[in-house]
Amino acid sequence: TKIAIFASGSGSNFQAIQTAIENGKLDAEIGVVVTDKPDAYVVKRAENFGIPVFSFVAKQYESKADYEQEIINILKEHEVQWVILAGYMRLIGNTLLSAYSNRIVNIHPSLLPAFPGKDAIGQALEHGVKVTGVTVHFVDEGLDTGPILSQAAVDVVEGNRSATEAKIHALEHELYTSTLQKLFKKEIKLFH
Ligand code: GRF
Repeated sequence: TKIAIFASGSGSNFQAIQTAIENGKLDAEIGVVVTDKPDAYVVKRAENFGIPVFSFVAKQYESKADYEQEIINILKEHEVQWVILAGYMRLIGNTLLSAYSNRIVNIHPSLLPAFPGKDAIGQALEHGVKVTGVTVHFVDEGLDTGPILSQAAVDVVEGNRSATEAKIHALEHELYTSTLQKLFKKEIKLFH
């Protein structure tokens, strides 16, 4: 299964997915990493693995449709079948959604529908929840709103934000790779 990873930041999920592929735990190949942040650390990680990167700067395009069309051209060149969002900080528009209908997946560090959007972990801690977690879901036009594929829970470590964050990120890496494997093996699918 040929996939693209879209990321705007550190790329630890990218790295976990690529490592799972190399270890034979995920039957897939990352054809290209797409980023809207040419300086993001994910670019270095991709280069270390020898994976092609397409970086773009959104404000150099007239519209979202324009840069998404260029992304689609890149995805087609690499014969990408699935788009995997991993810390990609832009809403996906109609251009990309219709080209990859029900083929775009995201991971979010909360138990959706609680705490969508930015800094989900901070939002959850601010609210004082005792349990939070991770969600893998299909992407639609909303912000963290598509149909849910999988979830896993994490107990908040009271008074220790960084310990809670570390547990959530470790769980993300595990849940994303195992969910993608089930999805590509058609063991889970969209029932809508
Ligand atoms: C993760 O917490 C992911 O759930 C969220 O953005 C973060 C990306 O982290 N959507 P990384 O770039 O994969 O390290």
